[in-house]
Amino acid sequence: MISKAFSFTLLIVLVSFSSCFGYPIKFQPSSKNCHYIDSESPNVVPQPSLPINRHKVKFPNFNQFNHGVVRCARRRPRQVIIFNVVHFGAKADGKTDASEAFRNAWDRACKSSRRSIFLVPRHKTYHIRQINFTGPCKSIMKMEIKGTIKAFSELYNDTKRFWINFHNLSNFEVRGGGIIDGNGEIWWNNSCKIKKTQPCENEQAPAAMTFDNCMNLKVTNLQIQNSQQMHLVFQECVDVKASYLKVTAPGKSPNTDGIHVTRTRNIDITMSEIKTGDDCISIVNGSKAIRVMDIECGPGHGISIGSLGENQSESRVSDVLVNGARLSGTTNGVRIKSWQGGSGYARNIIFQNIQMQNVSNPIIIDQYYCDKDESCHKQKSAVQVMNVVYKNIRGTSASEVAIKFNCSDTVPCRALILENVYLSRQGKGEAEAKCSNIIGLYNFGRFVSPSC
Ligand SMILES: *[C@@H]1O[C@H](CO)[C@@H](O)[C@H](O)[C@H]1NC(C)=O
Ligand SMILES: *[C@@H]1O[C@H](CO)[C@@H](O)[C@H](O)[C@H]1NC(C)=O
Ligand SMILES: *[C@@H]1O[C@H](CO)[C@@H](O)[C@H](O)[C@H]1NC(C)=O
Ligand SMILES: *[C@@H]1O[C@H](CO)[C@@H](O)[C@H](O)[C@H]1NC(C)=O
Ligand SMILES: *[C@@H]1O[C@H](CO)[C@@H](O)[C@H](O)[C@H]1NC(C)=O
Ligand SMILES: *[C@@H]1O[C@H](CO)[C@@H](O)[C@H](O)[C@H]1NC(C)=O
Ligand SMILES: *[C@@H]1O[C@H](CO)[C@@H](O)[C@H](O)[C@H]1NC(C)=O
Ligand SMILES: *[C@@H]1O[C@H](CO)[C@@H](O)[C@H](O)[C@H]1NC(C)=O
Repeated sequence: MISKAFSFTLLIVLVSFSSCFGYPIKFQPSSKNCHYIDSESPNVVPQPSLPINRHKVKFPNFNQFNHGVVRCARRRPRQVIIFNVVHFGAKADGKTDASEAFRNAWDRACKSSRRSIFLVPRHKTYHIRQINFTGPCKSIMKMEIKGTIKAFSELYNDTKRFWINFHNLSNFEVRGGGIIDGNGEIWWNNSCKIKKTQPCENEQAPAAMTFDNCMNLKVTNLQIQNSQQMHLVFQECVDVKASYLKVTAPGKSPNTDGIHVTRTRNIDITMSEIKTGDDCISIVNGSKAIRVMDIECGPGHGISIGSLGENQSESRVSDVLVNGARLSGTTNGVRIKSWQGGSGYARNIIFQNIQMQNVSNPIIIDQYYCDKDESCHKQKSAVQVMNVVYKNIRGTSASEVAIKFNCSDTVPCRALILENVYLSRQGKGEAEAKCSNIIGLYNFGRFVSPSC
Protein backbone atom coordinates (compact mmCIF):
# COMPACT_ATOMS: atom_id res chain seq x y z
CA MET A 1 0.00 0.00 0.00
CA ILE A 2 2.81 2.31 0.86
CA SER A 3 4.74 1.47 -2.23
CA LYS A 4 1.63 2.22 -4.24
CA ALA A 5 1.43 5.59 -2.58
CA PHE A 6 5.07 6.10 -3.32
CA SER A 7 4.68 5.40 -7.00
CA PHE A 8 1.60 7.55 -7.04
CA THR A 9 3.75 10.49 -6.18
CA LEU A 10 5.84 9.76 -9.22
CA LEU A 11 2.83 10.58 -11.32
CA ILE A 12 2.59 14.07 -12.45
CA VAL A 13 -0.26 15.59 -10.60
CA LEU A 14 -1.51 18.90 -11.64
CA VAL A 15 -4.26 19.70 -9.24
CA SER A 16 -6.75 22.48 -9.45
CA PHE A 17 -4.35 25.13 -10.59
CA SER A 18 -4.19 23.30 -13.94
CA SER A 19 -7.57 24.80 -14.67
CA CYS A 20 -5.96 28.17 -15.18
CA PHE A 21 -2.73 26.81 -16.47
CA GLY A 22 -0.37 28.67 -18.71
CA TYR A 23 -1.74 29.22 -22.18
CA PRO A 24 -0.56 31.60 -24.87
CA ILE A 25 -2.98 34.47 -24.89
CA LYS A 26 -2.62 38.19 -24.94
CA PHE A 27 -1.46 39.82 -21.79
CA GLN A 28 -4.39 41.17 -19.85
CA PRO A 29 -3.04 43.64 -17.37
CA SER A 30 -6.47 44.11 -15.84
CA SER A 31 -6.40 40.74 -14.16
CA LYS A 32 -4.24 41.11 -11.13
CA ASN A 33 -4.15 37.36 -10.55
CA CYS A 34 -2.52 36.77 -13.92
CA HIS A 35 1.10 37.03 -14.51
CA TYR A 36 3.05 37.59 -17.67
CA ILE A 37 6.05 35.42 -18.38
CA ASP A 38 8.37 36.41 -21.15
CA SER A 39 9.34 33.44 -23.32
CA GLU A 40 12.82 34.93 -23.59
CA SER A 41 13.52 34.00 -20.01
CA PRO A 42 12.53 30.36 -19.71
CA ASN A 43 14.58 30.01 -16.57
CA VAL A 44 12.10 32.09 -14.67
CA VAL A 45 8.91 30.25 -13.87
CA PRO A 46 6.18 31.08 -11.45
CA GLN A 47 5.93 28.90 -8.43
CA PRO A 48 2.62 27.13 -8.02
CA SER A 49 0.65 28.77 -5.30
CA LEU A 50 -0.84 25.53 -4.01
CA PRO A 51 0.61 23.43 -1.25
CA ILE A 52 2.53 20.80 -3.14
CA ASN A 53 3.83 18.70 -0.34
CA ARG A 54 2.32 15.37 -1.36
CA HIS A 55 2.60 15.62 -5.09
CA LYS A 56 5.30 16.23 -7.52
CA VAL A 57 4.33 19.06 -9.71
CA LYS A 58 5.78 19.34 -13.14
CA PHE A 59 6.64 22.78 -14.29
CA PRO A 60 5.37 23.58 -17.75
CA ASN A 61 7.85 23.54 -20.55
CA PHE A 62 7.93 27.13 -21.59
CA ASN A 63 10.00 26.40 -24.64
CA GLN A 64 6.88 25.13 -26.35
CA PHE A 65 5.53 28.65 -26.50
CA ASN A 66 6.85 31.12 -28.99
CA HIS A 67 5.27 34.01 -27.25
CA GLY A 68 5.01 35.02 -23.69
CA VAL A 69 2.32 33.32 -21.69
CA VAL A 70 -0.11 34.39 -19.09
CA ARG A 71 -0.29 32.32 -15.99
CA CYS A 72 -3.11 32.68 -13.54
CA ALA A 73 -3.24 31.61 -9.97
CA ARG A 74 -5.36 32.29 -6.95
CA ARG A 75 -2.53 34.18 -5.36
CA ARG A 76 -0.03 36.15 -7.30
CA PRO A 77 2.68 33.63 -8.09
CA ARG A 78 6.17 34.28 -6.94
CA GLN A 79 9.08 34.25 -9.27
CA VAL A 80 11.52 31.42 -8.90
CA ILE A 81 14.95 31.18 -10.44
CA ILE A 82 16.29 27.78 -11.38
CA PHE A 83 19.95 26.98 -10.90
CA ASN A 84 20.61 23.87 -12.94
CA VAL A 85 23.90 22.14 -12.08
CA VAL A 86 24.44 21.46 -15.78
CA HIS A 87 24.73 25.18 -16.41
CA PHE A 88 27.55 25.22 -13.88
CA GLY A 89 29.47 22.53 -15.73
CA ALA A 90 28.29 19.31 -14.09
CA LYS A 91 29.02 16.35 -16.36
CA ALA A 92 27.19 13.07 -16.12
CA ASP A 93 29.81 10.89 -17.79
CA GLY A 94 30.28 8.45 -14.92
CA LYS A 95 33.78 9.62 -14.04
CA THR A 96 33.93 13.38 -13.73
CA ASP A 97 33.67 14.89 -10.25
CA ALA A 98 30.73 17.29 -10.33
CA SER A 99 31.32 18.64 -6.82
CA GLU A 100 32.67 21.99 -8.00
CA ALA A 101 29.67 22.56 -10.27
CA PHE A 102 27.32 21.65 -7.42
CA ARG A 103 29.14 24.02 -5.07
CA ASN A 104 29.00 26.89 -7.54
CA ALA A 105 25.34 26.32 -8.30
CA TRP A 106 24.63 26.22 -4.57
CA ASP A 107 26.53 29.43 -3.89
CA ARG A 108 24.56 31.28 -6.52
CA ALA A 109 21.22 29.80 -5.50
CA CYS A 110 21.82 30.44 -1.83
CA LYS A 111 22.81 34.05 -2.44
CA SER A 112 19.87 34.72 -4.72
CA SER A 113 17.54 37.35 -3.37
CA ARG A 114 14.67 35.74 -5.26
CA ARG A 115 13.27 32.32 -4.45
CA SER A 116 15.42 29.72 -6.09
CA ILE A 117 15.54 26.08 -7.07
CA PHE A 118 18.75 24.10 -7.18
CA LEU A 119 18.12 21.54 -9.90
CA VAL A 120 19.72 18.18 -10.61
CA PRO A 121 18.10 17.17 -13.89
CA ARG A 122 16.49 13.82 -14.54
CA HIS A 123 17.89 10.79 -16.36
CA LYS A 124 21.46 11.64 -15.47
CA THR A 125 23.92 10.45 -12.83
CA TYR A 126 26.30 12.94 -11.27
CA HIS A 127 29.22 11.79 -9.14
CA ILE A 128 30.20 14.03 -6.29
CA ARG A 129 32.64 13.94 -3.40
CA GLN A 130 31.96 15.29 0.08
CA ILE A 131 29.96 18.45 -0.12
CA ASN A 132 28.59 21.11 2.22
CA PHE A 133 25.40 22.86 1.35
CA THR A 134 25.65 25.59 3.92
CA GLY A 135 23.19 28.32 4.79
CA PRO A 136 21.69 30.54 5.83
CA CYS A 137 20.44 31.43 2.36
CA LYS A 138 19.12 34.79 1.38
CA SER A 139 15.66 33.60 0.44
CA ILE A 140 13.52 30.50 0.45
CA MET A 141 15.11 27.72 -1.51
CA LYS A 142 14.32 24.28 -2.81
CA MET A 143 16.55 21.52 -4.06
CA GLU A 144 14.99 19.43 -6.80
CA ILE A 145 16.83 16.17 -7.27
CA LYS A 146 15.34 14.51 -10.31
CA GLY A 147 18.38 12.60 -11.50
CA THR A 148 20.89 10.55 -9.51
CA ILE A 149 23.65 11.80 -7.23
CA LYS A 150 26.26 9.14 -6.61
CA ALA A 151 29.35 8.86 -4.44
CA PHE A 152 32.64 7.60 -5.83
CA SER A 153 33.68 4.17 -4.65
CA GLU A 154 36.51 5.40 -2.43
CA LEU A 155 37.39 5.61 1.23
CA TYR A 156 38.33 8.84 2.95
CA ASN A 157 38.99 10.05 6.48
CA ASP A 158 36.77 12.70 7.89
CA THR A 159 35.91 13.18 11.50
CA LYS A 160 32.64 14.94 10.67
CA ARG A 161 31.39 11.79 9.00
CA PHE A 162 29.30 13.06 6.17
CA TRP A 163 29.05 12.80 2.43
CA ILE A 164 26.30 15.32 1.65
CA ASN A 165 25.88 17.80 4.46
CA PHE A 166 23.12 20.39 4.74
CA HIS A 167 24.04 22.87 7.38
CA ASN A 168 22.40 25.95 8.91
CA LEU A 169 19.37 26.04 6.64
CA SER A 170 15.89 27.24 7.35
CA ASN A 171 12.75 27.13 5.23
CA PHE A 172 14.42 24.63 2.99
CA GLU A 173 13.07 21.71 0.99
CA VAL A 174 14.65 18.77 -0.83
CA ARG A 175 12.48 16.74 -3.18
CA GLY A 176 12.26 15.63 -6.77
CA GLY A 177 11.87 11.86 -7.13
CA GLY A 178 15.57 11.33 -7.79
CA ILE A 179 18.14 9.01 -6.24
CA ILE A 180 20.92 9.61 -3.73
CA ASP A 181 23.32 6.69 -3.98
CA GLY A 182 26.10 6.38 -1.37
CA ASN A 183 27.75 3.57 -3.37
CA GLY A 184 28.78 2.26 0.05
CA GLU A 185 30.07 -1.25 -0.64
CA ILE A 186 33.70 -0.27 -0.23
CA TRP A 187 32.87 1.18 3.21
CA TRP A 188 30.94 -1.92 4.22
CA ASN A 189 33.83 -4.15 3.17
CA ASN A 190 36.16 -2.11 5.37
CA SER A 191 33.88 -1.87 8.40
CA CYS A 192 34.90 -3.67 11.58
CA LYS A 193 31.72 -5.72 11.43
CA ILE A 194 32.76 -7.27 8.11
CA LYS A 195 36.57 -7.00 8.23
CA LYS A 196 37.19 -8.49 11.65
CA THR A 197 40.82 -7.36 11.83
CA GLN A 198 39.64 -3.73 11.76
CA PRO A 199 39.21 -2.10 15.20
CA CYS A 200 35.76 -0.58 15.75
CA GLU A 201 36.99 2.45 17.71
CA ASN A 202 37.94 4.73 14.84
CA GLU A 203 35.15 3.64 12.54
CA GLN A 204 34.24 6.78 10.63
CA ALA A 205 32.07 5.94 7.69
CA PRO A 206 29.96 8.89 6.55
CA ALA A 207 26.19 9.30 6.47
CA ALA A 208 24.77 9.84 3.01
CA MET A 209 22.65 12.89 3.84
CA THR A 210 23.03 14.88 7.03
CA PHE A 211 20.80 17.79 7.97
CA ASP A 212 22.54 19.66 10.68
CA ASN A 213 21.22 22.67 12.58
CA CYS A 214 18.18 23.28 10.42
CA MET A 215 14.78 24.78 10.94
CA ASN A 216 11.56 24.28 9.03
CA LEU A 217 12.82 21.62 6.70
CA LYS A 218 10.99 19.36 4.31
CA VAL A 219 12.52 16.26 2.71
CA THR A 220 10.15 14.44 0.41
CA ASN A 221 9.89 12.08 -2.54
CA LEU A 222 13.43 10.76 -2.77
CA GLN A 223 15.19 7.42 -2.94
CA ILE A 224 18.25 7.11 -0.77
CA GLN A 225 20.26 3.97 -1.23
CA ASN A 226 23.43 2.07 -0.37
CA SER A 227 24.71 4.63 2.05
CA GLN A 228 28.24 4.35 3.38
CA GLN A 229 26.67 4.18 6.83
CA MET A 230 23.49 5.90 8.05
CA HIS A 231 21.28 7.08 5.21
CA LEU A 232 19.53 10.15 6.53
CA VAL A 233 20.52 12.01 9.69
CA PHE A 234 18.56 14.85 11.28
CA GLN A 235 20.70 16.50 13.87
CA GLU A 236 19.85 19.58 15.83
CA CYS A 237 16.86 20.35 13.67
CA VAL A 238 13.53 21.91 14.57
CA ASP A 239 10.29 21.44 12.60
CA VAL A 240 11.01 18.76 10.03
CA LYS A 241 8.73 16.91 7.67
CA ALA A 242 10.18 13.82 6.02
CA SER A 243 7.80 11.90 3.76
CA TYR A 244 7.60 9.61 0.74
CA LEU A 245 11.13 8.38 1.15
CA LYS A 246 12.39 5.05 -0.06
CA VAL A 247 15.55 4.01 1.74
CA THR A 248 17.28 0.81 0.69
CA ALA A 249 20.51 -1.07 1.32
CA PRO A 250 21.29 -4.78 1.60
CA GLY A 251 20.19 -6.42 4.87
CA LYS A 252 23.82 -7.32 5.53
CA SER A 253 25.29 -3.84 5.09
CA PRO A 254 26.69 -2.72 8.48
CA ASN A 255 25.25 0.23 10.46
CA THR A 256 23.20 1.49 7.57
CA ASP A 257 20.37 2.98 9.65
CA GLY A 258 17.56 4.38 7.55
CA ILE A 259 16.67 7.59 9.38
CA HIS A 260 18.55 8.75 12.46
CA VAL A 261 17.15 11.51 14.65
CA THR A 262 19.32 13.24 17.22
CA ARG A 263 18.85 16.44 19.26
CA THR A 264 15.87 17.23 17.05
CA ARG A 265 12.45 18.56 17.97
CA ASN A 266 9.14 18.33 16.20
CA ILE A 267 9.71 15.99 13.32
CA ASP A 268 7.19 13.98 11.27
CA ILE A 269 8.46 10.94 9.42
CA THR A 270 5.63 9.60 7.28
CA MET A 271 4.70 7.37 4.33
CA SER A 272 8.13 5.88 3.85
CA GLU A 273 9.66 2.53 3.06
CA ILE A 274 12.91 1.57 4.74
CA LYS A 275 14.86 -1.62 4.04
CA THR A 276 18.43 -1.57 5.32
CA GLY A 277 21.06 -3.36 7.40
CA ASP A 278 20.38 -1.54 10.69
CA ASP A 279 17.58 0.38 12.41
CA CYS A 280 14.87 1.59 10.07
CA ILE A 281 14.48 4.58 12.34
CA SER A 282 16.65 5.39 15.35
CA ILE A 283 15.81 8.15 17.76
CA VAL A 284 18.47 9.20 20.25
CA ASN A 285 19.42 11.80 22.81
CA GLY A 286 17.89 15.25 22.82
CA SER A 287 14.90 14.37 20.64
CA LYS A 288 11.37 15.43 21.46
CA ALA A 289 8.01 15.51 19.67
CA ILE A 290 8.74 12.81 17.14
CA ARG A 291 5.92 11.42 15.03
CA VAL A 292 6.50 8.36 12.89
CA MET A 293 3.54 7.32 10.75
CA ASP A 294 2.88 4.79 7.98
CA ILE A 295 6.24 3.13 7.76
CA GLU A 296 7.18 -0.07 5.99
CA CYS A 297 10.28 -1.54 7.62
CA GLY A 298 12.38 -4.60 6.90
CA PRO A 299 14.87 -6.05 6.50
CA GLY A 300 16.57 -4.14 9.27
CA HIS A 301 16.71 -3.80 13.02
CA GLY A 302 13.30 -2.19 13.49
CA ILE A 303 12.25 1.10 15.03
CA SER A 304 14.49 2.02 17.95
CA ILE A 305 14.65 4.60 20.65
CA GLY A 306 18.27 4.55 21.68
CA SER A 307 20.78 3.50 22.41
CA LEU A 308 20.74 5.94 25.32
CA GLY A 309 23.12 6.60 28.18
CA GLU A 310 26.37 5.30 26.71
CA ASN A 311 29.52 6.14 28.71
CA GLN A 312 27.54 7.39 31.73
CA SER A 313 25.96 10.09 29.59
CA GLU A 314 22.66 11.82 30.23
CA SER A 315 20.09 11.14 27.53
CA ARG A 316 16.61 12.51 27.10
CA VAL A 317 13.96 11.41 24.65
CA SER A 318 10.28 12.19 25.08
CA ASP A 319 6.95 12.50 23.29
CA VAL A 320 7.39 9.90 20.60
CA LEU A 321 4.45 8.56 18.63
CA VAL A 322 4.85 5.62 16.27
CA ASN A 323 1.46 5.18 14.62
CA GLY A 324 1.07 2.77 11.72
CA ALA A 325 3.97 0.57 10.78
CA ARG A 326 4.53 -2.79 9.20
CA LEU A 327 7.70 -4.59 10.14
CA SER A 328 8.72 -7.77 8.35
CA GLY A 329 11.66 -10.01 9.05
CA THR A 330 13.37 -7.44 11.26
CA THR A 331 15.54 -8.35 14.25
CA ASN A 332 13.48 -6.03 16.47
CA GLY A 333 10.04 -4.51 16.21
CA VAL A 334 9.67 -1.54 18.51
CA ARG A 335 12.64 -1.21 20.81
CA ILE A 336 13.90 1.00 23.61
CA LYS A 337 17.54 0.34 24.46
CA SER A 338 19.85 1.91 26.99
CA TRP A 339 23.27 1.24 28.46
CA GLN A 340 23.82 0.72 32.15
CA GLY A 341 25.29 3.68 33.97
CA GLY A 342 23.50 6.42 32.06
CA SER A 343 20.95 8.91 33.32
CA GLY A 344 18.05 10.92 31.92
CA TYR A 345 14.87 9.43 30.52
CA ALA A 346 12.87 7.94 27.68
CA ARG A 347 9.26 8.80 28.41
CA ASN A 348 5.82 9.50 26.98
CA ILE A 349 6.09 7.06 24.13
CA ILE A 350 3.25 5.47 22.16
CA PHE A 351 3.63 2.57 19.75
CA GLN A 352 0.32 1.82 18.06
CA ASN A 353 -1.30 0.19 15.05
CA ILE A 354 1.67 -1.97 14.25
CA GLN A 355 1.84 -5.17 12.31
CA MET A 356 4.75 -7.55 12.85
CA GLN A 357 5.68 -10.35 10.51
CA ASN A 358 8.31 -12.82 11.68
CA VAL A 359 10.09 -10.24 13.83
CA SER A 360 12.72 -11.61 16.21
CA ASN A 361 12.02 -9.28 19.18
CA PRO A 362 8.67 -7.65 18.39
CA ILE A 363 8.36 -5.64 21.62
CA ILE A 364 11.51 -5.02 23.60
CA ILE A 365 12.94 -2.77 26.27
CA ASP A 366 16.58 -3.58 26.87
CA GLN A 367 18.22 -1.60 29.64
CA TYR A 368 21.26 -3.84 29.57
CA TYR A 369 22.27 -2.98 26.05
CA CYS A 370 25.94 -3.66 25.42
CA ASP A 371 27.48 -3.42 21.99
CA LYS A 372 31.12 -3.70 23.07
CA ASP A 373 33.56 -6.50 22.46
CA GLU A 374 34.15 -6.93 26.21
CA SER A 375 31.04 -7.38 28.37
CA CYS A 376 29.66 -4.38 30.22
CA HIS A 377 30.02 -4.55 33.98
CA LYS A 378 27.23 -3.90 36.41
CA GLN A 379 26.40 -0.28 37.18
CA LYS A 380 24.02 1.50 39.52
CA SER A 381 22.40 4.23 37.46
CA ALA A 382 20.22 3.94 34.36
CA VAL A 383 18.06 5.93 31.98
CA GLN A 384 14.49 6.08 33.33
CA VAL A 385 11.95 4.43 31.00
CA MET A 386 8.47 5.67 31.78
CA ASN A 387 4.95 6.03 30.34
CA VAL A 388 5.14 3.72 27.37
CA VAL A 389 1.98 2.57 25.57
CA TYR A 390 1.76 -0.42 23.22
CA LYS A 391 -1.62 -0.46 21.51
CA ASN A 392 -3.06 -2.53 18.65
CA ILE A 393 0.03 -4.53 17.89
CA ARG A 394 -0.37 -7.86 16.14
CA GLY A 395 1.55 -10.40 14.17
CA THR A 396 4.22 -13.01 14.57
CA SER A 397 7.47 -13.39 16.42
CA ALA A 398 10.40 -15.27 14.94
CA SER A 399 11.62 -16.07 18.46
CA GLU A 400 9.97 -17.61 21.49
CA VAL A 401 9.95 -14.34 23.42
CA ALA A 402 7.65 -11.86 21.74
CA ILE A 403 7.60 -9.35 24.59
CA LYS A 404 10.76 -8.64 26.51
CA PHE A 405 10.91 -5.95 29.16
CA ASN A 406 14.40 -6.19 30.59
CA CYS A 407 14.29 -3.10 32.77
CA SER A 408 17.05 -1.90 35.05
CA ASP A 409 17.02 -3.37 38.56
CA THR A 410 18.26 -0.06 39.98
CA VAL A 411 15.96 2.25 38.01
CA PRO A 412 12.89 0.15 37.11
CA CYS A 413 10.55 0.99 34.22
CA ARG A 414 7.42 2.85 35.28
CA ALA A 415 3.95 2.75 33.77
CA LEU A 416 4.03 0.39 30.82
CA ILE A 417 0.61 -0.01 29.21
CA LEU A 418 -0.41 -2.76 26.81
CA GLU A 419 -3.74 -2.67 25.01
CA ASN A 420 -4.90 -5.15 22.39
CA VAL A 421 -1.57 -6.76 21.75
CA TYR A 422 -1.57 -10.16 20.11
CA LEU A 423 1.66 -11.79 19.04
CA SER A 424 2.05 -15.45 18.20
CA ARG A 425 5.08 -17.49 17.32
CA GLN A 426 5.82 -17.63 13.58
CA GLY A 427 4.72 -21.04 12.38
CA LYS A 428 4.28 -22.73 15.75
CA GLY A 429 1.82 -21.44 18.33
CA GLU A 430 2.26 -19.46 21.49
CA ALA A 431 4.91 -16.90 22.20
CA GLU A 432 5.98 -15.82 25.66
CA ALA A 433 6.70 -12.63 27.57
CA LYS A 434 9.72 -12.06 29.81
CA CYS A 435 9.49 -9.08 32.08
CA SER A 436 11.56 -7.78 34.93
CA ASN A 437 11.77 -4.67 37.11
CA ILE A 438 8.56 -2.86 36.19
CA ILE A 439 6.62 -0.62 38.54
CA GLY A 440 3.11 -0.37 37.12
CA LEU A 441 2.32 -2.68 34.25
CA TYR A 442 -1.22 -2.38 32.90
CA ASN A 443 -3.08 -4.60 30.47
CA PHE A 444 -6.13 -3.10 28.76
CA GLY A 445 -8.47 -3.98 25.95
CA ARG A 446 -9.86 -7.32 24.82
CA PHE A 447 -6.61 -9.19 24.72
CA VAL A 448 -2.96 -8.97 25.62
CA SER A 449 -1.05 -12.04 24.60
CA PRO A 450 1.49 -13.09 25.60
CA SER A 451 1.33 -11.19 28.86
CA CYS A 452 3.85 -10.66 31.65
C1 LIG B 1 32.19 21.29 5.49
O1 LIG B 1 31.96 22.16 6.58
C2 LIG B 1 32.63 21.79 7.80
C3 LIG B 1 32.24 22.78 8.85
O2 LIG B 1 30.88 22.65 9.15
C4 LIG B 1 34.11 21.77 7.57
O3 LIG B 1 34.76 21.34 8.74
C5 LIG B 1 34.46 20.84 6.42
O4 LIG B 1 35.81 20.89 6.14
C6 LIG B 1 33.68 21.19 5.18
N1 LIG B 1 33.91 20.15 4.21
C7 LIG B 1 33.93 20.34 2.90
C8 LIG B 1 34.23 19.17 2.03
O5 LIG B 1 33.73 21.42 2.41
C1 LIG C 1 42.68 7.14 7.68
O1 LIG C 1 43.48 7.37 8.82
C2 LIG C 1 44.10 6.21 9.36
C3 LIG C 1 44.88 6.60 10.59
O2 LIG C 1 44.25 7.61 11.28
C4 LIG C 1 45.02 5.58 8.33
O3 LIG C 1 45.56 4.38 8.84
C5 LIG C 1 44.22 5.27 7.06
O4 LIG C 1 45.09 4.80 6.06
C6 LIG C 1 43.51 6.52 6.56
N1 LIG C 1 42.69 6.16 5.43
C7 LIG C 1 42.58 6.87 4.31
C8 LIG C 1 41.69 6.36 3.25
O5 LIG C 1 43.21 7.91 4.15
C1 LIG D 1 25.87 28.15 11.51
O1 LIG D 1 25.11 29.08 12.26
C2 LIG D 1 25.65 29.32 13.55
C3 LIG D 1 24.72 30.27 14.24
O2 LIG D 1 23.42 29.85 14.11
C4 LIG D 1 27.03 29.91 13.41
O3 LIG D 1 27.60 30.08 14.70
C5 LIG D 1 27.92 28.97 12.61
O4 LIG D 1 29.16 29.58 12.38
C6 LIG D 1 27.27 28.66 11.28
N1 LIG D 1 28.08 27.68 10.60
C7 LIG D 1 28.60 27.87 9.39
C8 LIG D 1 29.46 26.80 8.87
O5 LIG D 1 28.33 28.85 8.76
C1 LIG E 1 33.42 -6.06 -1.36
O1 LIG E 1 33.66 -7.42 -0.99
C2 LIG E 1 33.06 -8.35 -1.88
C3 LIG E 1 33.29 -9.74 -1.30
O2 LIG E 1 34.60 -9.89 -0.88
C4 LIG E 1 33.66 -8.19 -3.27
O3 LIG E 1 33.06 -9.10 -4.17
C5 LIG E 1 33.42 -6.77 -3.75
O4 LIG E 1 34.05 -6.56 -5.00
C6 LIG E 1 33.96 -5.76 -2.74
N1 LIG E 1 33.56 -4.45 -3.20
C7 LIG E 1 34.34 -3.37 -3.10
C8 LIG E 1 33.80 -2.11 -3.68
O5 LIG E 1 35.40 -3.36 -2.55
C1 LIG F 1 22.19 15.08 24.93
O1 LIG F 1 21.54 16.19 24.32
C2 LIG F 1 21.68 17.39 25.03
C3 LIG F 1 20.93 18.46 24.29
O2 LIG F 1 19.64 18.07 24.02
C4 LIG F 1 23.14 17.77 25.12
O3 LIG F 1 23.28 18.92 25.90
C5 LIG F 1 23.92 16.63 25.74
O4 LIG F 1 25.30 16.92 25.70
C6 LIG F 1 23.67 15.35 24.97
N1 LIG F 1 24.35 14.26 25.60
C7 LIG F 1 25.17 13.45 24.91
C8 LIG F 1 25.80 12.36 25.67
O5 LIG F 1 25.40 13.60 23.73
C1 LIG G 1 32.11 5.99 24.61
O1 LIG G 1 33.46 5.73 24.89
C2 LIG G 1 34.12 4.95 23.92
C3 LIG G 1 35.51 4.63 24.40
O2 LIG G 1 36.05 5.69 25.12
C4 LIG G 1 34.14 5.70 22.60
O3 LIG G 1 34.73 4.94 21.58
C5 LIG G 1 32.69 6.01 22.18
O4 LIG G 1 32.68 6.80 21.02
C6 LIG G 1 31.97 6.75 23.30
N1 LIG G 1 30.59 6.90 22.94
C7 LIG G 1 29.94 8.04 23.01
C8 LIG G 1 28.50 8.02 22.58
O5 LIG G 1 30.45 9.08 23.38
C1 LIG H 1 11.55 -16.04 10.04
O1 LIG H 1 12.76 -15.46 10.52
C2 LIG H 1 13.74 -16.44 10.80
C3 LIG H 1 14.91 -15.76 11.48
O2 LIG H 1 15.04 -14.44 11.07
C4 LIG H 1 14.13 -17.12 9.50
O3 LIG H 1 15.13 -18.09 9.76
C5 LIG H 1 12.90 -17.78 8.90
O4 LIG H 1 13.21 -18.32 7.64
C6 LIG H 1 11.78 -16.76 8.73
N1 LIG H 1 10.57 -17.47 8.37
C7 LIG H 1 9.74 -17.02 7.43
C8 LIG H 1 8.54 -17.83 7.18
O5 LIG H 1 9.96 -16.01 6.80
C1 LIG I 1 18.37 -8.94 30.99
O1 LIG I 1 19.65 -8.67 30.48
C2 LIG I 1 20.68 -9.28 31.24
C3 LIG I 1 21.99 -8.80 30.68
O2 LIG I 1 22.04 -8.99 29.28
C4 LIG I 1 20.54 -10.79 31.18
O3 LIG I 1 21.54 -11.38 31.95
C5 LIG I 1 19.16 -11.17 31.71
O4 LIG I 1 18.95 -12.54 31.54
C6 LIG I 1 18.09 -10.42 30.97
N1 LIG I 1 16.81 -10.66 31.58
C7 LIG I 1 15.74 -11.01 30.89
C8 LIG I 1 14.48 -11.15 31.68
O5 LIG I 1 15.77 -11.22 29.69
